[in-house]
Amino acid sequence: MAGNASPDAAIELVDVVKDFDSVRVLDGVNLVVPRGAITVLLGASGAGKTVTVNHIVGLIHPNQGAVYVNGRQLARLSDAEMTELRLDMAAVLQGSLPFTCGLFFSMNVYENVASPLRQRRPRWSEERIEQVTMESLRLVGLAESAEIMPDELSSGMAKRTAIARALALEASIVIIDDFDSGIDGVRLALLCDLLRELQRDSDATLLVTTHDMSAARRLADYVAVIHEGRIIASGEAESVFESTEDVVAQLIAGELTGPIQLRSS
Ligand SMILES: Nc1ncnc2c1ncn2[C@@H]1O[C@H](COP(=O)(O)OP(=O)(O)OP(=O)(O)O)[C@@H](O)[C@H]1O
Ligand SMILES: [Mg+2]
Repeated sequence: MAGNASPDAAIELVDVVKDFDSVRVLDGVNLVVPRGAITVLLGASGAGKTVTVNHIVGLIHPNQGAVYVNGRQLARLSDAEMTELRLDMAAVLQGSLPFTCGLFFSMNVYENVASPLRQRRPRWSEERIEQVTMESLRLVGLAESAEIMPDELSSGMAKRTAIARALALEASIVIIDDFDSGIDGVRLALLCDLLRELQRDSDATLLVTTHDMSAARRLADYVAVIHEGRIIASGEAESVFESTEDVVAQLIAGELTGPIQLRSS
């Protein structure tokens, strides 16, 4: 049974179950992403972060349960309504090779940012598109890399290009999957500060997935921890960081002993 969405949630998953073939990958995910704040979805590799995000952007659909964005259940939307809802969202997807971070491999860095912006802002002049594109690239430190093609980027540069593309859209819901991968510690901290500042200025809702604890601590107003396809802890960041639950405490402390081991997920 999929209940109703909470009124103050920008995104909500209710009892979401997802099977790939006969393998259960999400096992009843309940997740609330409050509006106008940064929520970090934290979990070990293979825990189900990307599958969760891909439900929210409508790329995949649950076997059971419901996904709500802005209070609207995705399964009940027509294609036209889904397209309209997507205009409120910008996402950095994890993607897989050769589509790392969902970049268009036939376009250089500049066009990867400018092209979706042109689609969303058909009335904007090319000058305005260029101004916003270059400002977004400057924010992530890639203004000098505008001409580079995706296959010539390091993985961190590809991630920053995708982040610039998402920020340029000035969406009210911004989702960044696999935030930390490929990004060095210093730039990651700088990007956290940038996201915090942008969130404060725009009052957007951010959902960021990561396995990096320092990024989680810098970013999060709220934290949800996913393990083996279930949310096992969630709430205000400080209360989750103080949790003594086995998996949560191991993730947060980066301990080698505990329920998370190489062989599992
Ligand atoms: N299309 C698919 N078909 C089959 N299994 C899948 C598919 N996509 C994901 N899975 C499985 O679902 C589980 C969760 O994967 P997911 O990509 O969500 O993990 P993650 O938490 O994002 O990990 P990472 O931090 O490494 O990105 C994994 O066991 C994975 O093998
Ligand atoms: Mg992932």
